[in-house]
Amino acid sequence: MEVLGIDIGGTGIKGAPVDTKTGAITRDRLRILTPQPATPGAIIDTVKAIVDHYKWTGPVGCGFPAVIKDGCVHTASNISSDWIGVNARDLLQEATGLSTNFLNDADAAGLAEMRFGAGRSQTGLVLIVTLGTGIGTSVFINQTLIPNTELGHIELRGKDAEKRASERVRITRKLSWKKWGIRVDEYLTAIEALLWPDMIIIGGGASRKHERYFPYLTVSAQIVPAQLRNQAGIIGAALAAPGIE
Ligand code: BGC
Repeated sequence: MEVLGIDIGGTGIKGAPVDTKTGAITRDRLRILTPQPATPGAIIDTVKAIVDHYKWTGPVGCGFPAVIKDGCVHTASNISSDWIGVNARDLLQEATGLSTNFLNDADAAGLAEMRFGAGRSQTGLVLIVTLGTGIGTSVFINQTLIPNTELGHIELRGKDAEKRASERVRITRKLSWKKWGIRVDEYLTAIEALLWPDMIIIGGGASRKHERYFPYLTVSAQIVPAQLRNQAGIIGAALAAPGIE
């Protein structure tokens, strides 16, 4: 079954058709910059432009950088606060006439990694951490997702953790890999004291460069880089579309 997977991020909105049986992206990916301010109307228009680009008539799955319950947005860390209380799924359904679903972006990336990537056939407790504009997390127990964990917002040195250890902080503060790696390690150590996962999969922009900062990670869980790179969000969003097992 082919589904249009869309990964809505704080910086870019990416989409592509996905074969949900194999996890393969079947046509060239389209990326559009996230409109600023990232209000509901502006984002839905951008997603609709992606739907129109592929002349899509099938189901659509969207990953979104917020807590999502039953299509409704509950938080807004890196998007406009106008989103809070808005049912994103219903808005997109009305705008396109297609059958749509929304889920948290890190949960989407996690679904893809567990099915087709670094977490394939892994049992026990797995934590996926995406280091990007913010810090996203998803938690799986024996391959079953516990949705909407927001462990990127634990407090570190009196600050929201994503304001210390996200990929955006590394770039904007021009931190060396070592300095940033030590911050990521401090973050993961704090999480490990609370959750004790068997495996931690690290995704997001810097997963390509993992050899630059993995040497600074001291946690006892097995640590592995995400395998699907920046496609995990699109593939996982497709897996969460209506009617997909
Ligand atoms: C949001 C999460 C999201 C993460 C990654 C955080 O700021 O609270 O919901 O998964 O960023 O985009």
